[in-house]
Amino acid sequence: MTSFSDSARLKKLFDEEVNLFVRQNPESKKLHDKAAGPMMNGVPMSWMAKWPGPYPVYVKSAKGAHFSDVDGNDYVDFCLGDTGAMVGHSPDASIAAIKNQLEKGITLMLPTEDAAIAAQSLADRFGVEKWQFTLTATDANRHIIRYARHITGRKKILIHDYCYHGTVDETFANLDEQGNTVSRVNNIGAPVDPKETTWVVPFNDLAAAEKAFASGEIAAALIEPAMTNIGIVLPEPGYLEGLRTLATKYGVILIHDETHTLSEGVGGMTRRRNLKPDAVVLGKTIGAGIPAGAFGMTKELSARISGSLNLEHIDVGGVGGTLAGNALSMAAVRATLTEVLTEEAFARMEDLCTVWTKDVQEIIDEYQIPWQVSQLGCRAEYSFRATAPRTGKEAADADDFELQQYLHLHALNRGILMTPFHNMALISPATTLEDVKRHTEHFRDAAKALFT
Ligand SMILES: Cc1ncc(COP(=O)(O)O)c(C=O)c1O
Repeated sequence: MTSFSDSARLKKLFDEEVNLFVRQNPESKKLHDKAAGPMMNGVPMSWMAKWPGPYPVYVKSAKGAHFSDVDGNDYVDFCLGDTGAMVGHSPDASIAAIKNQLEKGITLMLPTEDAAIAAQSLADRFGVEKWQFTLTATDANRHIIRYARHITGRKKILIHDYCYHGTVDETFANLDEQGNTVSRVNNIGAPVDPKETTWVVPFNDLAAAEKAFASGEIAAALIEPAMTNIGIVLPEPGYLEGLRTLATKYGVILIHDETHTLSEGVGGMTRRRNLKPDAVVLGKTIGAGIPAGAFGMTKELSARISGSLNLEHIDVGGVGGTLAGNALSMAAVRATLTEVLTEEAFARMEDLCTVWTKDVQEIIDEYQIPWQVSQLGCRAEYSFRATAPRTGKEAADADDFELQQYLHLHALNRGILMTPFHNMALISPATTLEDVKRHTEHFRDAAKALFT
């Protein structure tokens, strides 16, 4: 149920937007009706049903920060594949390298030169020396936590309440009212009770982390340095440094999942804030959308792991993937890192994101709305609460699905795509000031409709 005070007005506004959407998207409707036969919920993956209209819009083509749909509507894409396309759609340098590699072999189970160049670029950016490649960030997380359990002999992973790290079994857990680790709502087909594998702590709570570490049960802490999947929750001064000190004290492997927080710059928050994790995880955009994930380790951690592996059985130990590190992914990662995700690109993206954030905040202030907006480099997000959340729970408590659906549909009908999961906007190297101002205009109109 919505917490918006005038729920009748919200419903009326939403219904008007649904009608407008249906009028504007007849061809998408035809394609969706056709898709309903062979696919569950009419979509290739279940979460694609979560878009705010009665059906998703069907894409005709995408380039840079824009895409067009089969009805001829043009959109500024602030969702950018929920980070998969943070580099912009089909950036020229990545496409040239991908096309070139397509002609020369896609997957061989043998390394190509690109892998070493990509790995060196990541080592230089994040300060951890030894890298491995996967197809997704999920796999990178799975693999590094397997290694962590393997070398520490401990069975649990510490995570933050309301985190998201991909479809990693250990991470579908929450804190209940009493502070116990319990299964997350809608944890589909959990293999075991997460109590056995996981210890959940609130973000920004060093005392809770120390209690968990002191149990001697924790192999690794898998964290985003800022939470980005329940809105943005920023670390308080000293929190990340404190976790580092505690992890060292208790022999816990500290993993920074920078899949989303890469938005802070070429080396993510790790580089920008001079942090010293034992391992770093990446994915999504590093191959411009060609499937690629990566995990990097300090040379000490890498030596511990490789010293514990048995060559004869290395392919059946639960770390791998036939297509991992394939030639096409490696060509895409090399080109994307070295030619697209540059210092200059990040500086521009962040400047534009600051404009987006300032505009949204000004409208919030003008209409005296009890919301706030947070920025993390080229990523920004508004939440339905007056002050920035300190924990995932505070952010989750401010969620309002109906209100969000209205705002997203209002945006979509005016040529703006927001991520379907929350109120996040990403700026790509191809996004322009005009694109940002299109969002500002929609946000002002929606605020006016809701609050005057
Ligand atoms: C922080 C973080 N890590 C990992 C993942 C998993 O990425 P993928 O679904 O591409 O494996 C996600 C996905 O949203 C994420 O937000």
